[in-house]
Amino acid sequence: MTADISVEKLNAEEAAQELARLASVLSRANADYHQNDAPSLTDAEYDTLKRRNSEIEARFPNLKRPDSPSEQVGAAPSDGFGKVTHAVRMLSLGNAFDDEDVAEFDKSVRKFLGLGAGAIRYTAEPKIDGLSLSLRYENGTLIQAATRGDGAVGENVTANARTIADIPQTLTGAPDVLEVRGEVYMSHEDFDALNARQTERGGKTFANPRNAAAGSLRQLDPEITKSRPLKFFAYAWGDLSSPLAKQQSAAIERLSDLGFQTNALTKMCAGTAQMIAHYREIEEKRSGLGYDIDGVVYKVDDLALQARLGFRSTTPRWAIAHKFHAELAWTTLDAIDIQVGRTGALSPVARLKPVTVGGVVVSNATLHNEDYIAGQGNKGEDIRGGKDIRVGDFVQVYRAGDVIPKIADVDLGKRPDDAAPFVFPMQCPKCQSDAIREEGDAVRRCTGGLICPAQAVEKLKHFVSRAAFDIEGLGAKQIEAFYHDDQFPVKEPADIFTLEERNASALVKLSNRDGWGATSVKKLWQAIEQKREIPLARLIFALGIRHLGEAGSNLLAPHYGTWDAFEEAMTRAQIDQGRAWDDIMSIDGVGAVMATSVITTFQQDAERASIDRLVAQLRPQEAAKPTSDSPVAGKTVVFTGTLERMTRAEAKARAESLGAKVSGSVSAKTDILIAGPGAGSKAKKATDLGVETISEDEWLALIGAL
Ligand code: IVH
Repeated sequence: MTADISVEKLNAEEAAQELARLASVLSRANADYHQNDAPSLTDAEYDTLKRRNSEIEARFPNLKRPDSPSEQVGAAPSDGFGKVTHAVRMLSLGNAFDDEDVAEFDKSVRKFLGLGAGAIRYTAEPKIDGLSLSLRYENGTLIQAATRGDGAVGENVTANARTIADIPQTLTGAPDVLEVRGEVYMSHEDFDALNARQTERGGKTFANPRNAAAGSLRQLDPEITKSRPLKFFAYAWGDLSSPLAKQQSAAIERLSDLGFQTNALTKMCAGTAQMIAHYREIEEKRSGLGYDIDGVVYKVDDLALQARLGFRSTTPRWAIAHKFHAELAWTTLDAIDIQVGRTGALSPVARLKPVTVGGVVVSNATLHNEDYIAGQGNKGEDIRGGKDIRVGDFVQVYRAGDVIPKIADVDLGKRPDDAAPFVFPMQCPKCQSDAIREEGDAVRRCTGGLICPAQAVEKLKHFVSRAAFDIEGLGAKQIEAFYHDDQFPVKEPADIFTLEERNASALVKLSNRDGWGATSVKKLWQAIEQKREIPLARLIFALGIRHLGEAGSNLLAPHYGTWDAFEEAMTRAQIDQGRAWDDIMSIDGVGAVMATSVITTFQQDAERASIDRLVAQLRPQEAAKPTSDSPVAGKTVVFTGTLERMTRAEAKARAESLGAKVSGSVSAKTDILIAGPGAGSKAKKATDLGVETISEDEWLALIGAL
């Protein structure tokens, strides 16, 4: 028993085993204590185990588990939910909008796997419009329920999930560890009744069943959740101690046998024709289902193929959501405003006479860019039959899921006589700098850069947003006020971190201002102080670089590991050439557009100086290199010649998922060259450099895939 070995004597394998055991014992103890009100350990026993866990983690930092007990907050904080680090990330799905996208998806699956003719089998099922929930069962007992959150960390809503009748508290015959994932939703009937009750009581009504479901699950008081009729469909799983089945379909059947509700419209389809036929069938039934769905999800049935296909940064390669067409409504366009975004993009926004579209009141719609207003698409083709959009027009509005509403059509018969074509501004409406359109860009951009107040404010808002610095008490509203503040101006991110000092030496303090008091100011300083230590990925994302989103930042951070390494590489990199360029381009998911944008930002003097001022205020945390106990973790490998058992894309994705770095060229830094038939100059170079060269089969044996 690893439990009997002292920490100093544990080897890595025993340590991993022991950390797994402690995680499970401590999470059970937490559940017994906090949720069941029935402690199973004395305080002293609990503390001893927790200390042992921390000591092992200190000796073997690489083995620290995503669900490490040292990261877990014992009790849910009273001002919100506790956080749960998902043992397996909760991802989202890529979207298909038409039949062609579905064919394209099937093609990409085959291409990745290197499969020829012969249909792949997919399951097709409704995409439920609710919110996803992960339920963790250990030894047949529900011990934790968590929302998706940002995919890596969700909210602990265990007490609330326990009140949902569709969610079993115990399971018989389940794997020891089983995370069941699915959607919490509310039926139309229950939604209408809830809103009627709320109106009667003078309470808040909900815009649609999804909002109602989310608002009901995320209640601090489980009694309120209990009074709300929530339902749950199971459609996926996360962490597992043993496989549920060999096929997606069989795994879902198993979940159904265990007592979960699964969707009866789930169907096996051999190939795209059957998938699309089932999509049409579900679409026809949509209005009579009694709950909201917003599309159909296709999943590769064979779980071995799913495993080979794996994931992109935020979506699986083996599944896709085929969305339904949007709901429509007609209304009048009152005005067209121009907003300036953080990258200077001039975005026209339609101000509409409020209208209800699919249960939501819409009063704004995006107009994208000047061509779109004029009736032209990205390639100069006509859209809406070439009809332009004018102030005063009667327009058809649509929305699809979470997407910002758009304008589908214009009724020319109702156009007022005096309606004039819209003239798009050539100057930034906020700073009057020239607004120019670069060749090939549909968007006109303000050239004011840091001097443009609109860009600066948007950049700051992005900086403090939830996925970036997320500073409590400093939201969009406060940022806007500080930006225009004469006494405590915040013109760039670095200024946030000097606020406290500036306040300390000021005669009239912030706490004397309207909207601020001694407590809120003190809290703000604490919140800012806390964020000086910031995960590298958040810092990179917070910079607000064009083309670099959260997913991209999550790829860059672990690749470079530290801010210094990242900054150095971006300073050194040349676009389209050289080692630093090859290095950034070797990251799966990073393309030339993103790489160019990041490098350009770091090489612009004013931008760079602003970034330097910011970082001087911070202590960026190191990003863990993808840890993996695979023998190829951290190794740089190169594939050359013909691969016979898998495609290049699969080989690369798989090597990367095991923590290896895949490079396109052989150098002294290469650890392994995998050479297939027909290998030429790279193999020779590897031999000259003394780089280990192995065959495809040897590689597969090394990674345990043979
Ligand atoms: S499968 C790895 N199946 O849609 C991805 N998701 O847009 C596992 N959703 O986050 C998800 N119905 O909340 C799957 N039948 C279904 C679904 C479904 C609704 C939600 C889920 C997911 C989101 C992605």
